[in-house]
Amino acid sequence: MPMLKNLMLSGVYRLQQLAFGSRAALSQRSRTRWRSAIPTSDLTWGRRVSGDAFIRKVEFYGGFGSAKSILEIGPGYGRLLQSCLDLKVPFKDYYALDISAANVDWLREKFGAPNRMFIQGDAETTPLPAGFDSMMSSLTFKHLYPSFEPALNNLVRFARPNARFFFDLLEGQSQFFERDRITYIRRYSRKQVIDMLARSRLELVAFDTVEHDPEHRRLLVVAGLTR
Ligand SMILES: C[S@@+](CC[C@H](N)C(=O)[O-])C[C@H]1O[C@@H](n2cnc3c(N)ncnc32)[C@H](O)[C@@H]1O
Repeated sequence: MPMLKNLMLSGVYRLQQLAFGSRAALSQRSRTRWRSAIPTSDLTWGRRVSGDAFIRKVEFYGGFGSAKSILEIGPGYGRLLQSCLDLKVPFKDYYALDISAANVDWLREKFGAPNRMFIQGDAETTPLPAGFDSMMSSLTFKHLYPSFEPALNNLVRFARPNARFFFDLLEGQSQFFERDRITYIRRYSRKQVIDMLARSRLELVAFDTVEHDPEHRRLLVVAGLTR
């Protein structure tokens, strides 16, 4: 049954591609939703959700330390940073990159501090200061069209040699635009993830799970630069 559902969904996606235009047009379309995003609970299923579960996993895999520079991609309303502060995990500095100007303004207002920087830009193309030890992203890579690979290719350029990447995904094999025609969602198989990591000079450290709340459990990918 799940295979049949995946097959139908990929058919739907191909039909959408025919109906809505080229890859470049779809790429632009997939970004319109996020460029105009605002920092509300709409980003997490209509209710505020704690980032503690995600941060505890990053901590478990050694992602924090008082000398470490952290980069978050797609911080939304800042629930991961809020959890870092609540759980008192150590870091040297914290950068957060979001495509939405409204999110970035709000985050700067709420969390701004000399060692917390907020940058507006696209994860695929934005140049960043070099030297991150941990890069993390929650509930965001599943929305990157056509895949998260171009974002990884950009981000690895700014990683320290021992850097770790932490991001969550929906597991499966399908891709489609939601009814609003701008929200793109893609599921990945573990093999696809490993292949994409390899093409971005990354290797798998672990597959794990992160339970954002009892209804939203996701595949967590932990990766490091290939040695
Ligand atoms: C579904 S929300 C998740 C927010 C947050 N990570 C969380 O877990 O609550 C996706 C976030 O990623 C941002 N985003 C989407 N595409 C992006 C891109 N290409 N580059 C940077 N940020 C992006 C959106 O603006 C939004 O803040």
